[in-house]
Amino acid sequence: MKHLIDPTDLSKEEIDQIIALAQDIIAHRERYQGSMAHKKLATLFYEPSTRTRLSFTAAMMELGGQVLGFSNPQNSSAAKGETVQDTVRVLGCFADIIAMRHPIEGAPLVASEVSRVPIINAGDGSHSHPTQTLTDLLTIKRELGHIDDITIGFCGDLRFGRTVHSLIKALSRYHGIKVVLIAPDELRLPDYIKLDVCEKMGVAYRETDSLDEAIPELDVLYMTRVQKERFLDEDEFDRVKDSFVLDARRMALAKPKMAVLHPLPRVNEILTEVDEDPRAAYFRQVENGKLVRMALIISLMEWKNDPEHTMPEHEAPIVNPALHCTNAKCICNNEKHQPRFRLAENGIMRCWYCDSKVR
Ligand code: NCD
Repeated sequence: MKHLIDPTDLSKEEIDQIIALAQDIIAHRERYQGSMAHKKLATLFYEPSTRTRLSFTAAMMELGGQVLGFSNPQNSSAAKGETVQDTVRVLGCFADIIAMRHPIEGAPLVASEVSRVPIINAGDGSHSHPTQTLTDLLTIKRELGHIDDITIGFCGDLRFGRTVHSLIKALSRYHGIKVVLIAPDELRLPDYIKLDVCEKMGVAYRETDSLDEAIPELDVLYMTRVQKERFLDEDEFDRVKDSFVLDARRMALAKPKMAVLHPLPRVNEILTEVDEDPRAAYFRQVENGKLVRMALIISLMEWKNDPEHTMPEHEAPIVNPALHCTNAKCICNNEKHQPRFRLAENGIMRCWYCDSKVR
C-alpha cells in the first residue's frame, strides 16, 4: 500500500504518472466520472482550510465517490483526547482512503503507521504539503510545457511555508533546476531543506532579499503568504508581514513567459492588479489542484494491493532516550510516540517525524 506523507514517498516515475493521468483526465473527463463509484474518502481536517479540503471533496465527487469527515476538530473525538492513530483506525472502518490536515508535524506519518487504508497528508504544520506539490508540478507543466531546466524563485515565507519545502524536495529530482530563495533574514528556508535536499541532490540555489534583483531571470515565481499562525512572536510577524509585494511594476521586469504561482490564500503579497496579467497562473493552479487530486485518488486506490507500488525503504530509525526533538509542534512532543531520529547530511541528527534538530 502507498501513503502520501512526504513528496518523496512517490518516486519521480510515480509523480510523472500522476501528472500524466491528470492530463488525461483533462482531455477525457467523461471516462473517469464513475471510477470511484461506491468508494468513500474521509477528510480529517484539524486545521482551517478552504481550497485543499474542498478540492479533495470536489475531486472525489467528480469521480463518482462519496466524502465524509470533519473540518473542525472540536466536532471530532480529538476534542475528547483521542489520538490521531486511534482516529484513523476507526475511520479506516468507514472509508477507503483518508486525507488528513493537522497543525502538529508528523501527525499524518504516525497515522499512516497504523492505517489500513491509504493516508494522504493534506498539510502538517509548517512541515510538508505534498498534494500542493503535485498541484504546483502540474501547473508548471501546463504553463511552461516542461518541469526540467527551469529557474524558480520562491518568495516570502520560506521558513514556515510548507508548500515551499515540499515543492523543492520534489523539484530536486528533476533536471537542471535552479532555485532562487527570496526572503528576509527571519523567513529563510530551513537548513534541513538546504542541506538534505538542495546540497545533497545538487540543486543550484542562491539566497537574496531583493525580488527586483531576482525577477528578471525567473521562469516561475512562487509567491507565498507570511504564515501568521506559525509565529510564536507577534512583533516578529508585524516586522515581516509585508516583506514582498508583487505588483505591475515588478511584473514589467519579468520574462514575457514567466508563470506566477501562489498556493493561496493570498493576503497582500500579490496586488489584484496582477490578476489580469496572462502570466498570473494562481487561479488556474486551483483548478489543477482538483484535477491532480483526482489522479492521485485513482492512483493510490489502484496501488493499494500492488506490490510494485509500496512505501520507499528507509534506514531503521534511531532510538536513544538521551535525545529530544526541539520542535514543540512535533507529534512526539504532543502525543505519546517514542522519539525517533535519523542521521542526515553532515552527520546532523534530525527528528524522524518533523526533521527538526535534536537536543
Ligand atoms: C497553503 C497551506 O495550507 O499551506 N494553502 C493551501 O494549501 N492551498 C498555503 C497557505 O496557507 O499560505
